Amino acid sequence: MSTPATISASEIFELLREDLAAIEREFGRDTVAGVEAITDIGEYLRNGGGKRIRPALLLLSSKLFNYEGRGAIRLGAVVEMIHTATLVHDDIIDQAQIRRGRPSANTQWGNSKCVLAGDWLYMQAFKIAIQERNFRILDTLIDLTQQMVEGELLQMEKLGKAISLDEHFDLIHRKTACLFSVCMRLGAILGGATAEQEENLAQYGRDLGMAFQLVDDVLDLTASEDVLGKPVASDLREGKVTMAVIHALDRCTALERKLIETVLAQRTFDDVAHAQILEILERYGSLEAATSQATQYAALARNAICSFPDGEIKRALLWAPDFVVAREK
Ligand code: IPE
Ligand code: IPE
Ligand code: MG
Ligand code: MG
Repeated sequence: MSTPATISASEIFELLREDLAAIEREFGRDTVAGVEAITDIGEYLRNGGGKRIRPALLLLSSKLFNYEGRGAIRLGAVVEMIHTATLVHDDIIDQAQIRRGRPSANTQWGNSKCVLAGDWLYMQAFKIAIQERNFRILDTLIDLTQQMVEGELLQMEKLGKAISLDEHFDLIHRKTACLFSVCMRLGAILGGATAEQEENLAQYGRDLGMAFQLVDDVLDLTASEDVLGKPVASDLREGKVTMAVIHALDRCTALERKLIETVLAQRTFDDVAHAQILEILERYGSLEAATSQATQYAALARNAICSFPDGEIKRALLWAPDFVVAREK
């Protein structure tokens, strides 16, 4: 019997449902501490929802090799914990008020407790990862965490500045694409992939992660807070220049440049409205340019796994880039 060429979102969810539920339980057990504030913050974050795209990728990668051990559940929880820790710290740095449609943890517990809870989560993630007794896994996770922290630091140094596209790509690679890549790599390591297979999957994750952040940045400019569940138009207010803005700055008039620079310098839309910036971006097709760049990365991701044999897991991995580009939150 021939198998269909595509797979639907609900079929993928069904494929991963039990494992994702096991990862939730693992995450829940792992974030209980002797100190109440940590357990409370951990639970608050876990219950806040979130797409769980990183553990889903790790599961799919391991399943490509028919891996069925406990490691994928543990490491699925590990990557979600690392992601959660970066979000807690990111919201403190960005002074964000909303995350996943609710008040962000920093508004509930204050910055100091949240910094420490984030640190605790990082360490707990490593404690769980050590259970695999695999130095490559630890090496990978340590490199990742350093890349992500370096990414946030580099971003801070460039706030308010009109950076080049190359600099921007380096930033989003560190802060987002690296973790996507590591999720795929960890699944491959668990599954006993060859070096070449592991690199192909890591490449897939990297390209998918680049597409993911490019879309996140477009949504920041175009979405509504209700749908997104986090503040919108926040990047410019935080002094962050993302691809659409870089694209427009390369093409616009001196007057338009002044308007963009005013928002970046003032970090408010008091003197220049969000709508005025959107008009400029639309005039130069800059939002389309960023979306089209995301689409190109999505195609690269699909291409990176072309040598794997057909099957439902591969079809799920071929579907994910479309999901990432078309998503609304
Ligand atoms: C948010 O990631 C941080 C970025 C890398 C843009 P997600 O959009 O995956 O956040 P949740 O986990 O679904 O809330
Ligand atoms: C996400 O960058 C980077 C992280 C690794 C947390 P953003 O600052 O764009 O993330 P959001 O938009 O707040 O989720
Ligand atoms: Mg942020
Ligand atoms: Mg963002």
